[in-house]
Order: sequence, then C-alpha cells, then structure tokens
Amino acid sequence: MADRTRVGVLISGRGSNMMALATAALEPDCPYEVVMVASDKPDAAGLDWARSHDLPTFALSPRGLGKPAYEAAIDSALRDAGVEVVALAGYMRLLSDTFVAAWRDRIVNIHPSLLPKYKGLDTHARAIAAKDTVGGCSVHLVTEELDGGAVLGQAEVPIRPGDDADSLANRVLAAELALYPKTLAAFVTR
Ligand code: GAR
Repeated sequence: MADRTRVGVLISGRGSNMMALATAALEPDCPYEVVMVASDKPDAAGLDWARSHDLPTFALSPRGLGKPAYEAAIDSALRDAGVEVVALAGYMRLLSDTFVAAWRDRIVNIHPSLLPKYKGLDTHARAIAAKDTVGGCSVHLVTEELDGGAVLGQAEVPIRPGDDADSLANRVLAAELALYPKTLAAFVTR
C-alpha cells in the first residue's frame, strides 16, 4: 500500500508493544508500516520476534561507544531505512537533546502511567503507594523533558485492592497493547 508512514521502533527488552504495533500494521488499512526495529540491547527478546517476522533489525550497545556515537549510529540506521516516525516501545534509555531535536515532533513513546502523573520509573508502585484507584498508560510526543511531551492518547485501568506492582503492570500492559497502535495510527494521519 502506498504512502504509509514508515515507522522505526526502538526497544530495550521484551518488545510486546513493538509486536502490537507491527501486528496492527499487517492490516491493509493501517496508515503506518514498521520498517525497522532497533535496540540498545543486542540480546533484547523483541529482536528475535522481529527477525522471525522478517522485520529489519538494528542492534547496538552504547557501551564503550559513548552516547553521541551510539545515537549517531541509531540515527543513521533509521534514516537509511527511510524512517519517518520513531516509536519508543519499552526503550529504557534517555534520548539526548540533539537526537530529540533532529526528530522534533516525530518521536512518540508509551509510558505506563496517566501522565502527567508518575513520570520516570516505578510508576505502578508509586500509584499503589499513593492509593490511587485508577491507573493507566499514555502515548505522548517525546521532547527534551522526560515524559513531558504532549499526550496523544491515554487508557485507564482500575487499581484493585490487593494489587501489587506486577499485577497492575500486567493490567496496564494489556491496555497499552490496544492503545499504542490506535494512537500511532491517529498520529500519522493527523
Ligand atoms: C511497557 O510497560 C512500557 O510502557 C514501559 O516498559 C514496558 C515495556 O514492555 N515503558 C517505560 O517504562 C518507558 N519509560 P514491552 O517491552 O513488552 O513493550
């Protein structure tokens, strides 16, 4: 299908959000296609899934390289693949201001909280400790401010008595896998 937005997905681990994005893109009416999966962790489980689904992959550890050289290599790989939009999916590394500026308004991320609540790490434990009764996830634009860009979509889930961080993470993840593909589709057709 012509004119689908070319998306590169950055992962650091399991990659279930990447799988949801790539699987949704198999639908003929999906307005984006996943043209590359890249990772800062060469042993990320999601890379195996991507390879077994014939998705081009690029893996590079920043260790020993330094952040500028590492990000320059990721940037080149994305551009070589003709990527137009970068989707972070469990990518657990902060992008530099330089990288963010180079891809201004073209990087999206999924975060496991209802932003602006609980930016950063340990979102589920913090929501439970605060006795919140509703949690969820957000897809947002990536800016220089950690988890601070415009929110593009959110989904809520209940926080139940007896939940721990793992049970809440599982419930939120199910919401993420539905939210991310539909929000990315809306973003690329905005
Ligand atoms: C997801 O829950 C995602 O929201 C979270 O990591 C998990 C990755 O799972 N991302 C962050 O915490 C980003 N700060 P996945 O690798 O199976 O998609």
